[in-house]
Amino acid sequence: MNLVIVGAQWGDEGKGKIVDYLARDADTVIRYSGGANAGHTIVVDDATYKLHLVPSGIIYPGTTVVLGSSMVIDPQSLMEELSRLEAAGISWKGRVFISDRAHLVLPGYKERDREKDSARKTPLGTTGRGIGITYALKAFREGVRFADVFDSEMFIDLDEKDKAFIDSYRSSLKSMVFDVTAFMSGQKNKRVLFEGAQGVLLDLDCGTYPYVSSGCSSSFGAAAGTGIGPRDLDGVIGVFKAYTTRVGNGPFPSEFREDRDGNLGHTIREIGHEYGTTTGRPRRCGYLDLVSLRYACRTASIDSLALTHLDVYDTFDEIKACVGYRYKGREIADFPTSNEVLSSAEPVLKSFPGWKQDISSCGTYDSLPERARTYVSFIESFTAVPADIISVGSNRSQTILRKSFWS
Ligand code: IMP
Repeated sequence: MNLVIVGAQWGDEGKGKIVDYLARDADTVIRYSGGANAGHTIVVDDATYKLHLVPSGIIYPGTTVVLGSSMVIDPQSLMEELSRLEAAGISWKGRVFISDRAHLVLPGYKERDREKDSARKTPLGTTGRGIGITYALKAFREGVRFADVFDSEMFIDLDEKDKAFIDSYRSSLKSMVFDVTAFMSGQKNKRVLFEGAQGVLLDLDCGTYPYVSSGCSSSFGAAAGTGIGPRDLDGVIGVFKAYTTRVGNGPFPSEFREDRDGNLGHTIREIGHEYGTTTGRPRRCGYLDLVSLRYACRTASIDSLALTHLDVYDTFDEIKACVGYRYKGREIADFPTSNEVLSSAEPVLKSFPGWKQDISSCGTYDSLPERARTYVSFIESFTAVPADIISVGSNRSQTILRKSFWS
């Protein structure tokens, strides 16, 4: 069975926690896009793991993890991340594999990425991890794949510095690089989780272009990024927060505004610890945007939702969600493509009474306060997708599961 986990907002939705939770019963976890621009946090009892490249299933000792074909990977960052895991008592040797079709981020790409972004009229706010440059060179057919590392002669001419860099990692990569398509053909009766990075709204095609990442971060990237066809994907779980955040620039119609919303932005950022895992940047915060969430559900075939950070609202008297956009006096129900419309649209807000109660130890849906359930049901009816997973805290144990995914 092949289950996809995709971010249904602008990234940072809590995918790491959901992947980790479902990986308990998975055989394999394959990350399908992006690179070290991602930051997935997993909390198990007193231990916190921050992952950038390695799929979140790594914490379970018996799980095989794969870095998929559409990923862009800096071998140095990868080896450092694996060393940190080893130091934290996670043994990884023999169960971490890299698709031979994935591309390498080479030295110099990160600096070029940052230089390119700061030269833009409006910078995108890239994480500076060389992601855009690597994907651009791939499209330009000047990239280096992991398979190429072992060829006696390479198609493109690399400078001496890049050659020396590749040489220094060749032997440590040797046992990890493999053909993911051949591997997947042997996974027919296995439980495979496909871990997305970033989110639908940061996807190169479906997102708020050009304020997006350069990879295929929507669910359809799961097939391309792992060497299978789209009909082999059995379900898509869209992860979203009870509010919305965004890092970097770009339109964000439901973003909190001080003149309208007072210090809500600051309050949510502090309660929800909304600072980037990769860059430490404070995240922009806003109301849950149901217009964009419904768009994500439709374009990414999301058939289950995983709602995270619901507990962040525990102390609120009132909770609001964006149910439409108002632009030049008319209401828009569908997520627009134009950046001009998205940037000047006003959110149409619907109000819900807060539950004013600590929900962090609720273990079942029925034990949630009625007002929290009302908020959840409204989301479900607006998007027409059930919220099958609800997270009420960062720990693995603080998760409400309303359906069994692997049967
Ligand atoms: P890049 O992927 O580093 O080029 O960044 C492009 C845009 O995507 C910037 O606005 C980043 O802040 C954003 N971005 C990239 N990766 C993530 C992520 O994992 N979470 C949230 N935002 C991201």
